[in-house]
Amino acid sequence: MIIAVDGPAAAGKGTLARRLAGTFGLPYLDTGLLYRAVGRRVLDAGADPRDVPAALAAARALQPADFTRADLRGPVADMAATAVAAIGDVRAELLEFQRRFGREHGAVLDGRDIGTVVFPTAEAKLFVTASAEERARRRHAELLARGITADYAQVLSEVRDRDAQDENRPVAPLRPAADAMLLDTTHLDADAAFTAAMALLAAKLSSHGA
Ligand code: C5P
Repeated sequence: MIIAVDGPAAAGKGTLARRLAGTFGLPYLDTGLLYRAVGRRVLDAGADPRDVPAALAAARALQPADFTRADLRGPVADMAATAVAAIGDVRAELLEFQRRFGREHGAVLDGRDIGTVVFPTAEAKLFVTASAEERARRRHAELLARGITADYAQVLSEVRDRDAQDENRPVAPLRPAADAMLLDTTHLDADAAFTAAMALLAAKLSSHGA
């Protein structure tokens, strides 16, 4: 079984997807980490994350250790990930890894294009959103909790900028699949979002005969 969890930054996808994976006994893949790791490699090489050959070389060179780096989060890593993610050759390079991961034992995958591109035939697709202000509030609190000084207005502007880049890129833009179930978490905490997601999934999977 494949459960696709897509949506914009800081909508609560990761927390939800990890919890769903535990509940259904499925492996979990945070696909954003792949793009973050590529972005970091490009920065390490002293190149611009929008540079196609540099980003493609970084994607081809990925190693498991790249995913456990301590510097994959934060504004610089966010921007680099979003930039490399707009490059079609980079996405193509990462596609097979994601599909192989899901095919082995089934999986819950969170990202931007899981339901539209990576697993268009997933048994269940959730599109998790929240207002940009609420997502910025969460990201801001997360940064402060990690001891990173951040300005709310700046975080909000970065959230909006990443949304725009993810939604407007020509390849695999962020958008709900036609058969995705929408979950707006603006007024939901993590527990309430999980309960709402389980209700949506129960209805979907029972109609699937799962
Ligand atoms: O989900 P996360 O914020 O970690 O993703 C980082 C960036 O990677 C996103 O802004 C997006 O540009 C890109 N991404 C993507 N497709 C995915 C997952 C992430 O384009 N499936």
